[in-house]
Amino acid sequence: MSDSTDRVRGADFSLAGRVVVITGGAGLLGTRHAEAIAAAGGTPVIADRRGGEADAVAASVATAFGVPTLGVATDVTSETSVRALFDAVMLRFGRVDALVNNAANNPKVEDGASAFSRLEDFPLEQWTADLAVGLTGAFLCAKVFGTAMAAQGHGVIVNISSEYGIIAPDQRLYAVEGMPENQQPKKPVSYTPVKAGLHGLTLYLATYWADRGVRANTITLGGVENGQPAEFLARAAQRIPMARMAQPTDFQGALVWLCSDASSFVNGANVVVDGGKSVW
Ligand SMILES: NC(=O)c1ccc[n+]([C@@H]2O[C@H](COP(=O)([O-])OP(=O)(O)OC[C@H]3O[C@@H](n4cnc5c(N)ncnc54)[C@H](O)[C@@H]3O)[C@@H](O)[C@H]2O)c1
Repeated sequence: MSDSTDRVRGADFSLAGRVVVITGGAGLLGTRHAEAIAAAGGTPVIADRRGGEADAVAASVATAFGVPTLGVATDVTSETSVRALFDAVMLRFGRVDALVNNAANNPKVEDGASAFSRLEDFPLEQWTADLAVGLTGAFLCAKVFGTAMAAQGHGVIVNISSEYGIIAPDQRLYAVEGMPENQQPKKPVSYTPVKAGLHGLTLYLATYWADRGVRANTITLGGVENGQPAEFLARAAQRIPMARMAQPTDFQGALVWLCSDASSFVNGANVVVDGGKSVW
């Protein structure tokens, strides 16, 4: 059997025994990322500011998939906390193979219009907080985990971005009928800079440790269906060639692929999983 046949027969997609740290791992998508890693045989570490939820996700994924897991209360905006996460991973597993920078402030339609904030009134404190979680947090995790990966000579970093990192939010999507224009909810101004910046971080990391066996890539996600009002879902679907929003599981294949040896020559890429939305 040729090497090339072996490569597509599945072995290279396996994450057996690999330790994958997922920040924001207790959230809507972080949980799905953890399930995907576990389904591929990997060991997900759920690092989330909400420590109780991180433990709960770790426990349920371990039960469902029969793999070791770990939940760690972590604040990615704190270098001390990220170093404590690294120490906890080393103490428990003695290795780290991949880092998924997934944590972000991500206000959602389903959380209500008040979660959205207009540029005219957007508080500097919120801007600073959004950058701290989504961008500085990814930098700090890459610094701590990437340095260790470079030292060991292998590793993968996956930055979780959004369609709004490559296209602007269409604010008409969030419009509330009958509401005065100056009160209409908007996707926050911080979101696109954070998500575009994440791919910038990917580009930097992809070159920085390439000669040390560390790859870095971005997954750009389309908006996820999650109990939004039917009218919103219909409006969103009109803007997507595949005529639907994403399901939370739609990104799992891309994540496993990028964490595994099946993507061994993929470095600095932006894998867009958006049903074609950004093509229109
Ligand atoms: N849901 C979507 O439609 C969508 C679409 C595109 C991209 N994304 C991206 O996917 C990622 C996950 O989104 P989600 O929908 O699961 O969001 P979510 O809000 O459900 O989860 C985010 C998680 O991050 C955690 N977190 C927040 N601040 C933290 C900090 N300082 N340290 C550690 N953890 C922290 C939260 O506790 C939460 O569990 C985000 O990067 C988001 O931008 C989501």
